[in-house]
Amino acid sequence: MTSLKISASLLASDFTQLGSDIGEIESSEANELHFDVMDGQFVPNITIGIPILESIRPITKLPIDLHMMVVNPENHIEAFSKAGGNIFTFHAEACENIHKTINSIRKTSMSVGISIKPETPVEIIYDFIDYVDRILVMTVQPGFGGQQFMPETLPKIKKIAELISKNKRHIDLAVDGGIKKGTVELAIKAGATTLISGTGLFGHKNGVGAGISDFFQYIESSKSN
Ligand code: DX5
Ligand code: ZN
Repeated sequence: MTSLKISASLLASDFTQLGSDIGEIESSEANELHFDVMDGQFVPNITIGIPILESIRPITKLPIDLHMMVVNPENHIEAFSKAGGNIFTFHAEACENIHKTINSIRKTSMSVGISIKPETPVEIIYDFIDYVDRILVMTVQPGFGGQQFMPETLPKIKKIAELISKNKRHIDLAVDGGIKKGTVELAIKAGATTLISGTGLFGHKNGVGAGISDFFQYIESSKSN
């Protein structure tokens, strides 16, 4: 089985404690930080950007996945690369020219992620699969943390997993939105390889580190079922 990764979505952090939360994630077994950038246009919400990325970069060695929920993501590649992002995940729906965007990301040291919203047909990514490192399927409408997982996205995850298995390169299949106990197992069964979670991890009564340990247990038990 491909090894599964856990990515902690910082949106669910109490931002007055972001530094100590990241310290806790760093000393856990989590594999990555997920950094949600929203512009109030592609999605109704506005979140965090370059200054926060610059301040957290020196305090963590974990890869930072930039989830760019912004229109014209191509305009922000260079700045986010300079600020220390490791994966640039943009939305297929937000982009004028997907190939051009991928090529621009390739000019930096960042990996390429492409994301689709729950209602976007899988076919939109067919032409790009050979050129990306990660496909991120949104399992809620992008824009807000703490929403309910949409089970109707499962067939799509399955379809992309099949597509990826036919490809010779390693491509991550990430899911984002409502990932917690119960849905972790469904997502893994459908073929997800990176589990992105905000409230599912940070909402743990003993803190994000304990939330991450629990997730690894769900993963283990899903292997034996
Ligand atoms: C939503 C964001 C997610 C969000 C997930 O648009 O892209 O990364 O933080 O939050 P939860 O896990 O709470 O659904
Ligand atoms: Zn996200």
